[in-house]
Amino acid sequence: MRHFLHLLDLTGEQISELLTEAIRFKAARARRALPKPLADRVIALVFEKPSLRTRVSFESAILQLGGSSLYLAGADVGLGWRESNADIARTLNQFVDAVVLRVFKQSTLDELARWSSIPIVNGLSDLEHPCQALADVMTIVELFGTVAGKTVTFVGDGNNVSRSLAVAVGKLGGTFILSAPAGYGFDAEFTQWYATNIGNPLSEISDPTAAVAHADVIYTDVWTSMGQEAEREKRLKDFTGYQVNESLLAKAPSHTKVLHCLPAHRDEEITDGVMESPASVVFQQAGNRMYAQMAVLAKLVS
Ligand code: CP
Ligand code: NVA
Repeated sequence: MRHFLHLLDLTGEQISELLTEAIRFKAARARRALPKPLADRVIALVFEKPSLRTRVSFESAILQLGGSSLYLAGADVGLGWRESNADIARTLNQFVDAVVLRVFKQSTLDELARWSSIPIVNGLSDLEHPCQALADVMTIVELFGTVAGKTVTFVGDGNNVSRSLAVAVGKLGGTFILSAPAGYGFDAEFTQWYATNIGNPLSEISDPTAAVAHADVIYTDVWTSMGQEAEREKRLKDFTGYQVNESLLAKAPSHTKVLHCLPAHRDEEITDGVMESPASVVFQQAGNRMYAQMAVLAKLVS
């Protein structure tokens, strides 16, 4: 593992190892006994889009593991337009030990990684959100002891969050169901990749009620992702009927838990009632971002 760009590149075993480490970091922090594998290391965060969880959890993780972080707004760096990504990568290599990026295009990350001698970490792109997915499967392990044999139903968009989650769940032996309106499912290339590389089939069930009938986890995310703001009105209409609300939750088994990567648009993709219900574990899930990323950084940088 040189970079952390796509979960597609990792084996189930590598994901499990990261989870074991993440759970160890969480226990060590509770004992106030975190190790300092990032001592004397400097990690840059370059974000083209806003963030609360990703930025704060990375900065806090780096500090607690003994390193230092510096945050650069994407507009200041000008990835690919102020200068080429190849030049940016080879310059950053001289100053810092790793770079975490949040970008509009996955191709920006892939290009930086090609030119970079230091690790590049994907803090969200248009196609993937692998740090989120790692925290998500960590949360499922905390709740159920395992991901293998569990069913995760994502009600919403076939977007960055659902793609990475589908890969993480599939690689750990779980079943992933996407319930999206027509036109918002996964693309054919991804579906084909999944069928070839993951043992468990990927199901797309457009009726949310049928999709959650056997769900151990119901997951949702915003209908309009960052960068898609111009499509918001159309998406609000197209996603009608795909809200995770009390009546949909009642169609799922009584043990079902609800996850959301946050930020949530309450009363769009999820209701207040579900967010605040005993089934919701969204803040435990958000908290796990930090431990999942500690595991990634310790593996890549120390
Ligand atoms: N879930 C997540 O990535 O949140 P932020 O956009 O606040 O980082
Ligand atoms: N799908 C959302 C996730 C935000 C964490 C987005 O890309 O905006």
